[in-house]
Amino acid sequence: MQTREQSARPPLPHTLLLGNFYAGIAQVSSGATFERRNPAQHQDVVSIAPESTAQELRSACVAAREAATAWARTPAPQRAEVLGRLVFLLTRDKESLARFVAREVGKPIREARGSVQEAIDTAVFFQSEGRRLYGQTVPSELNEKELFTYRRPLGVVGVITAGNFPLAVPSWKIIPALLCGNTVVWKPSDDAPGTAWLFFRAWQRAGLPPGVLSIVFGGGKDAAGQFLVDQVDAGLLNKISFTGSTAVGRKIGEVCGRNLQQPSLELGGKNPLVILADADLDLAVDGSLWAAFGTAGQRCTSAGNIIVDRRVLPTVREKLLRRARALRIGDPSNSEVDYGPMINQRFMEGFTQQRATGLDGGAELLLDGRRILPGDEPEGFSGDAAQGLYAAPRIFDKVKMDMRIAQEECFGPTINLVEVDGMDEAMAAANGTPYGLSSALYTRDARAMLRFKEEIGAGMTSINNSTTGAEAHLPFGGNGWSGNGTRESGIWVLDAYTRWQAVNVDLSGKLQKAQIDVAPSARPEADDFEAILPPAR
Ligand code: UN1
Repeated sequence: MQTREQSARPPLPHTLLLGNFYAGIAQVSSGATFERRNPAQHQDVVSIAPESTAQELRSACVAAREAATAWARTPAPQRAEVLGRLVFLLTRDKESLARFVAREVGKPIREARGSVQEAIDTAVFFQSEGRRLYGQTVPSELNEKELFTYRRPLGVVGVITAGNFPLAVPSWKIIPALLCGNTVVWKPSDDAPGTAWLFFRAWQRAGLPPGVLSIVFGGGKDAAGQFLVDQVDAGLLNKISFTGSTAVGRKIGEVCGRNLQQPSLELGGKNPLVILADADLDLAVDGSLWAAFGTAGQRCTSAGNIIVDRRVLPTVREKLLRRARALRIGDPSNSEVDYGPMINQRFMEGFTQQRATGLDGGAELLLDGRRILPGDEPEGFSGDAAQGLYAAPRIFDKVKMDMRIAQEECFGPTINLVEVDGMDEAMAAANGTPYGLSSALYTRDARAMLRFKEEIGAGMTSINNSTTGAEAHLPFGGNGWSGNGTRESGIWVLDAYTRWQAVNVDLSGKLQKAQIDVAPSARPEADDFEAILPPAR
């Protein structure tokens, strides 16, 4: 017989006990640990992982360096075979992985499935890239001489990832880095150590040779993340690939820069979504809601400012307000919810702070998004407000581009409405932040589309679509404060994980000097050539 307490709540799922894995073996850490709790159900301890030390990070990088030569020598098509098996495993276990992602970071189950799919798509793409990884043959200026280019691996790559896409974003980095013949030391987000561990295990099951991929857990600041970056100065890493805040990205850029390395930095965004007067307004409102409130606004590609032509602003405002009030917030395992909890306390604090910043700056609060507390749940709420970290949607009106809330990234379910008059003002507002990650334009006017594509400073642009939802084989990345110009995904990411080698093979049997032993071409004089046009009469 069940007691009342037992029947009230289902039993809590298992806690994963995680350990570092490097040098091809599970490592015993005796030091401190940290817990990751389900953001929708605070009692649920999802995983416990080591808070790794500087020495552990160093050992992991030394071991990855030892494994690098053999992996680089493995033919690329064979390296890619591992990806084929990874695709099989991720596809087979997609549902259970998605459920775990939903539990660990609070992503609604439909989105969690999408983010597993993004990792699968990435692996599918790079499996066949193992049979390309093309270099070029280049004609020589000398006879009996051949020129070639080859992509060569960099060596050891340190990967540091964020928790909002705990499988997709790591896959964007780890898959091409390994495919290109590098070994990887991965420090996943402390918001998603369990998901990271499952992804790591999938690689092991797929037959990745021991030592090629290592996983080391811990926090960022003054912790494992920092200790990993320190290995660049120690000469043990050839590259850092990082997704996270602009502030941290700057620091990593400094360390890599003084070591003459180019990191991959995918940083913040303040993404404009522009609605012109001729737009299909229902479509634009659908896109705005998804861009701003999808994933509770916790994407680097979430809409930062919704920039609306004054002729349609009253209609857009009214529709947004009505639809935002009807959003279904709650338990991420419920496939009906529009968004789930905030991933962590820090994001909730940022979201809370943004309310005060907006009001101080003179913006008008149309919808007062705050933390959802027990007894004050909105209609249709399906979560547990006492146990979860939920935020209600917020809409600010009368936002001006020089206000702080128009300039600063905020991870949370919030919209800034910015009024503009016509395309010139819209363009200026869209380019009016130091960021340049994603952007969107809603219009039916082909010339406006063309202008937006040409003039927007962002790395990614949607026409009549949300700022979010990049596909896994297009270049992903931003300009300005959104990154350092490197791109993830598709063929473009190959440049981030390889260096070009130029080779010449001289088969002539004699010393041939480039630029010197080349048959001279006569220097042209005006009289050497017959006129193209007959002389004017
Ligand atoms: C991120 O928020 O770091 O384009 C990545 C998108 C997703 C990935 C977002 N495919 O919104």
